[in-house]
Amino acid sequence: MPLSNRPTLTQFLIEERRRFPTASGQLNALILDVANACKAIAKSVAYGELAGMYGSHEGGGSVNVQGEEQKKLDVISNDIFIATTQWAGNIAGIASEEMDVPLPVPQQYPKGNYLLVFDPLDGSSNIDVNVSVGSIFSILRAPDAVVCDERPLTSDDFLQAGAEQIAAGYAVYGPVTMLVLTVGNGVHGFTLDPMLGEFKLTHRDMTVPEDTQEFAINASNSRFWESPIRRYVDECLAGKTGARGKDFNMRWIASMVAEAHRILLRGGVFMYPRDTKDPNKPGRLRLLYEANPIGFIMEQAGGRCSTGSVPMLQVQPTSLHQRIGLVFGSRHEVERIERYHTEPAAAPIDDSPLFAPRSLFRD
Ligand code: F6P
Repeated sequence: MPLSNRPTLTQFLIEERRRFPTASGQLNALILDVANACKAIAKSVAYGELAGMYGSHEGGGSVNVQGEEQKKLDVISNDIFIATTQWAGNIAGIASEEMDVPLPVPQQYPKGNYLLVFDPLDGSSNIDVNVSVGSIFSILRAPDAVVCDERPLTSDDFLQAGAEQIAAGYAVYGPVTMLVLTVGNGVHGFTLDPMLGEFKLTHRDMTVPEDTQEFAINASNSRFWESPIRRYVDECLAGKTGARGKDFNMRWIASMVAEAHRILLRGGVFMYPRDTKDPNKPGRLRLLYEANPIGFIMEQAGGRCSTGSVPMLQVQPTSLHQRIGLVFGSRHEVERIERYHTEPAAAPIDDSPLFAPRSLFRD
């Protein structure tokens, strides 16, 4: 199909909305505002050092609520998301990786029915080396009492299980910019046409292959992994000669959006599991603006997302910036990892080639 005949994101959303004649249009308007934010971030990312975009915020030393170094582009992307989405009367509040506490909609703007949660620039520790990065967002329903100004917005309003999400998506800023979206009716991918500045539908009904021979994990943490993950990775590395009877590839971009996108297109499994590295951090990635939106997308695309033990979308959040162990991707592999979590006794770690006395991950 010629480029110009593909539906735009706007057309796609209008056609989707026809299925819900009573819908107010706020959700579509919010998604289009988010898409505009992603276009603006894509431009900032694309200028790189030409526009002085690289490096730390305020010359270094600045950390976000996670205790992580804030890049200039983290802060710019956060500001873009806020400016683009808070004015239109579609949301009642915003929560972001880059903000300690939620931001209510300022008094001068009308309040809308939704809450917007995002990681404005995921993988940004890699931005200076020109690796693909992305933005992740999740849309939740706002409590009526907040929308009607009967009480102020609180952090607790955002503590909704992933299954409650109304929509979720990500933009990946790679060789091309893509927006991948679910409103609970499959997963659809839109490519930014750089001439028109429009997202156009290029990937309808994306599905994650059920089986894979590719896995992604930061293996430098292997000594901190729990036994089910060690068993799984060990079996993958043993390849044809081990229990799996087939060879695997390993990938690690250290940019979750880029890994999720690869998995959506060709299958695979991503693991950033709970580990024992830092007892104060039960996992590395954040539940509300990383694990849940990616989980919603994976499940809608026929894949699976889990903590290893519990389906991600069933986890009841307890705090805004909560971290969690995350496993997602091809359904059969994620189910296998979940099964390993129920059979710890079946994990012959000490006999395995990977963790044997003379092995890759042992001295
Ligand atoms: O948000 C966190 C993030 O940048 C993810 O995008 C990525 O998967 C992970 O951290 C990389 O972690 P590590 O630095 O341990 O490889």
